[in-house]
Amino acid sequence: MRLNQTQKIGEVVSNFKTQKVKTDCPKLIMHPQQIFTKQQLWNEFIIEFQMEYRREFKRSNDNLANIKVLFYYFLNDLEFFNCENLIHAENEPSFKKGLMVVGSYGIGKSAYFKVFEKIFNKHKVLRFKGYGAKDLVKSYEVCPTPFDRSYMLDKTVRPKLFIDDINSERIASNYGNCDVIEEILFKQNEKKYMTYVTCNHTNHENNIEQTLFDLGNRYGGRMHDRFFEMFNIVVFKGKSMRR
Ligand SMILES: Nc1ncnc2c1ncn2[C@@H]1O[C@H](COP(=O)(O)OP(=O)(O)OP(=O)(O)O)[C@@H](O)[C@H]1O
Ligand SMILES: [Mg+2]
Repeated sequence: MRLNQTQKIGEVVSNFKTQKVKTDCPKLIMHPQQIFTKQQLWNEFIIEFQMEYRREFKRSNDNLANIKVLFYYFLNDLEFFNCENLIHAENEPSFKKGLMVVGSYGIGKSAYFKVFEKIFNKHKVLRFKGYGAKDLVKSYEVCPTPFDRSYMLDKTVRPKLFIDDINSERIASNYGNCDVIEEILFKQNEKKYMTYVTCNHTNHENNIEQTLFDLGNRYGGRMHDRFFEMFNIVVFKGKSMRR
């Protein structure tokens, strides 16, 4: 209605009725196997691996067993539970848990996750973001204020997060010590977010029980207990492929 008065534009706009967008319709969540068949994912993986590392993917028995467990996991294929390098003792494997991939040097732990990160970037249900544990510590240390430090941690924590090479980082020192990775893992668990990590064995015998025990010592009791709740534990086998 015209009032024959001048009105501020903000007042006029605030009187407009905004139409609410209906948000209560069920969201269509794609199952990973509707996005890729195993063969399609394999084809993409081989191409991305070649592009990223300028070398062909070597198919030794160990490599194939290592990559297989990741494929079945990400595709939510029940064959995952039969994989020989999935650890069953102490914790129950589940698609609701993330992944802790443990293995010796140079056997593809970082490389495979990097390739999956690239491929999955186009697909919301599978998309994850990866960081190196050491890089996270460095980013924390350069934060000038407590606000920046807390912001840095909050923006790292997310529904699907990958941290490469945990237990390789030192404790951050920035006006007091902070175990950055422990803090991030704790927050991921608190929010029931999905976390993928890789790490090396802590002992020359590549004994997984010892490695888990040492990780418990490194990150403390509160985290050690949560590892079994957060992760499917996978052991990669084989020899280094660094040339
Ligand atoms: N199946 C494979 N075929 C060919 N090259 C491979 C294969 N797996 C890994 N590589 C190559 O081996 C090198 C080491 O791999 P990567 O960095 O993933 O090792 P890693 O297990 O993360 O080792 P580290 O524990 O030292 O971090 C990379 O250059 C990678 O491209
Ligand atoms: Mg690595």
